[in-house]
Amino acid sequence: MSWDPDIYMKFANERTRPAMELLARVPLRAPARAIDLGCGPGNSTALLAARWPDAEIEGLESSPEMLAKARASGLRATFIEGDVESWSPERPYDVVFSNATLHWIADHRALLPRLMGYVADGGVLAFQVPRNFDAPSHMLMREVAQNGPWAAKLANARQVNVETPEAYFDILAPLSRSLDIWETTYLHVLEGDDPVLAWVSGTGLRPFVQPLDAEERGAFLSEYGARLRDAYPRRPDGKTLFPFQRLFAVARR
Ligand SMILES: C[S@@+](CC[C@H](N)C(=O)[O-])C[C@H]1O[C@@H](n2cnc3c(N)ncnc32)[C@H](O)[C@@H]1O
Repeated sequence: MSWDPDIYMKFANERTRPAMELLARVPLRAPARAIDLGCGPGNSTALLAARWPDAEIEGLESSPEMLAKARASGLRATFIEGDVESWSPERPYDVVFSNATLHWIADHRALLPRLMGYVADGGVLAFQVPRNFDAPSHMLMREVAQNGPWAAKLANARQVNVETPEAYFDILAPLSRSLDIWETTYLHVLEGDDPVLAWVSGTGLRPFVQPLDAEERGAFLSEYGARLRDAYPRRPDGKTLFPFQRLFAVARR
């Protein structure tokens, strides 16, 4: 499934803010090695490089388009093409960081203990995932997928991999000397026509539209766009409010 870094970064400030807030809670002064899993165009990696100028910083990314953008950023970091699912580093890291990526990967009950295994003693696993799969933006996406002529094509379009805060506590507490889990609901204030559609087009909508041919895609977007306009009406001041819930975890090994 392909990614378009320019569409993704249309909302660069909103998408990078959770990475800043996650990083602010990592209690390490001078880690020697840090990696950003699913680094995308390098926006989250840049935060690690700025906070720890003496650390060895890496970014791991599976999308060639995103990786090309990250490499062109000129950041002081090594960008590696790879898949988090099969990633198996030779040496541990002081920081394994991941912003807005792990929800694309199944079975967090197996994934997180494995990632904790790549964290050095005293080091940190820090991640943020959206937990908005029951929000109108995502429920309507699934409804339109299930009720159109494309239903069979989209039957397995998207799995929800994200667990509850309590489940993350149960998975990580036995492996952590300290564990901090919290949620935030951002109230994004968006501008322009169909801004929620523009937002999800850069991320969660891709598995629903990429399997469709051009005609189906047009019909899907027209139906879904109309439903989004009802669910997220444009206000008299021209702005559209888009609440967005995210879960954060910082586990110190
Ligand atoms: C929503 S972007 C997040 C980018 C950046 N970390 C940020 O904070 O904005 C998710 C990124 O994770 C990457 N990704 C998804 N699944 C992955 C996997 N299994 N292995 C490596 N990268 C993955 C995608 O290609 C995409 O660039």
